[in-house]
Amino acid sequence: MKKRVAVLISGNGSNLQALIDASLVTNSPYSIELVISNKLEAFGLIRAKKAGIKTAILSHKDFADRKLYDQQINKILEENNIEIVCLAGFMRILSKEFVHIWRGKIINIHPSMLPEFKGAHAIVEAFNAKVEYTGVTVHHVTEEMDAGEVILQEKLKIEKGESLESLTERIHKLEHQLYPKALKKILGAD
Ligand code: GRF
Repeated sequence: MKKRVAVLISGNGSNLQALIDASLVTNSPYSIELVISNKLEAFGLIRAKKAGIKTAILSHKDFADRKLYDQQINKILEENNIEIVCLAGFMRILSKEFVHIWRGKIINIHPSMLPEFKGAHAIVEAFNAKVEYTGVTVHHVTEEMDAGEVILQEKLKIEKGESLESLTERIHKLEHQLYPKALKKILGAD
């Protein structure tokens, strides 16, 4: 039986696309059954619809607090019999209660070699810091942001004179390879 995966997004959804594409090959150990966005305008929702995947939009503005918002996400995940949750550019911090329920079954992708450059501006911060190497990390989600156990991590050398645009593009390319691999790894199918 394929594992039922949900992907949580807020924007472009290029990582969602990479996960969808990898799920369509023969013998994929997972299928993307649901995409949840906190933003109505997220392009990832169009990607999901194109792929025939069920979507849900949940704005935090409709909820009194984070706990209630996360409870609703959890309810939707349970109603859809979701087994694994992939965060892919989901720009909200999840409550400790939610993370506790999904511990070991929720993963995230981050565009740096964690623990370096945590937070929302990892690519530009690595670029400005003029480090020789940056990279991509897929990790388990814990209460602390960008701090759970690493599942897969890959380094990328910043070329001499490279522009931020070029680095950003290469990081995203690497993300798209690494995320499906990491998901398969936690499913014991890599
Ligand atoms: C990616 O760089 C991911 O690592 C970070 O947010 C970005 C999302 O991009 N968490 P996309 O929406 O998947 O294109």
